[in-house]
Amino acid sequence: MKVTVVGAGNVGATCADVLAYKEIANEIVLVDIKDGIAQGKALDIWQKAPIDLYDSRTVGVTADYARTEGSDVVVITSGLPRKPGMSRDDLIAVNADIVTSVTENIVKYSPKAIIIVVSNPLDVMTYAAHLVSGFPRERVIGMAGILDTARYRAFLAEALNLSPKDIQAMILGGHGDTMVPLPRYTTVSGIPITELIDSERLNAIVERTKVGGGELVKLMGTSAWYAPGSAAAQMVEAIVRDQKRVFPVCIKLEGEYGINGTYLGVPVVLGKAGVERVIELKLDAAETNSLEVSRGHVQEVMNAFDNMRKAKATA
Ligand code: NAI
Ligand code: 2OP
Repeated sequence: MKVTVVGAGNVGATCADVLAYKEIANEIVLVDIKDGIAQGKALDIWQKAPIDLYDSRTVGVTADYARTEGSDVVVITSGLPRKPGMSRDDLIAVNADIVTSVTENIVKYSPKAIIIVVSNPLDVMTYAAHLVSGFPRERVIGMAGILDTARYRAFLAEALNLSPKDIQAMILGGHGDTMVPLPRYTTVSGIPITELIDSERLNAIVERTKVGGGELVKLMGTSAWYAPGSAAAQMVEAIVRDQKRVFPVCIKLEGEYGINGTYLGVPVVLGKAGVERVIELKLDAAETNSLEVSRGHVQEVMNAFDNMRKAKATA
């Protein structure tokens, strides 16, 4: 299996590293626009192979997409990260151009690839890549839900003094402060979370999860990369190993949850064809309202992206 990771910055390099040491792909191509950065990081990951004992081959290139030819999966992490005081949506103008040009190159050399978008604003960049690629929706998807649920699960594990391995959870909606964590679908090895924690502490964790990305931006001056890089690698693994795993993933909704045309995080089955099934949960009135707020917000940013494209086309 051949996997390309575009963007050799914090998230892209971490993702490539996880793909290599877990031997998820036998060939990993790291691409960046800055000369030397992808080559250097790929070489560094390759030189770690004799220590950590893996044989995935990692190579780096500067914008040489011919080297990515025939990739089975492509992860797009290229683009600016958030700085303190910025929302993910503030990145749209710069990152839309980057994601558009990267997708054009990917499609040219890997017409059968499954594309996983990571660049922010995530849901709208997934829209951009889907639009530009012309691929079916099952093959252009976004990573955010695995990260957001991981944050939620980590906070719960800490509060309950339990292993994070045993906490299962689901979060719907856009990758932003309007995301919809679902306590009703959160369990500890099958035990409803509400039996183990009082509603006040649970609500505090839900609220912290919604702004979990911002918490890290405040601490580090840029956005997170270890959990995001691993989350993207986990999606790649589910695809290349045809695992049929159930994850929250961003995809264009076509009638599911009563929503048409908006790109949102929902539970899906992930396997060798990409998204093999969208799972529709039964939501109560409050959950449905929260999902509608999230949909409205993502749709607004999608509309802003559409207006930018129209303005460019008429300029
Ligand atoms: P970074 O700044 O460390 O790396 C970005 C890399 O993209 C840089 O090395 C840059 O040279 C490269 N790049 C820029 N334009 C390019 C082009 N046209 N072709 C190839 N490479 C190009 O940023 P970081 O922290 O890795 O974040 C990357 C993106 O991922 C950001 O947009 C960030 O907001 C997003 N992100 C999304 C998450 C999610 O859950 N979906 C989580 C964390 C970050
Ligand atoms: C995160 O949630 C910024 O989207 C990035 O860490």
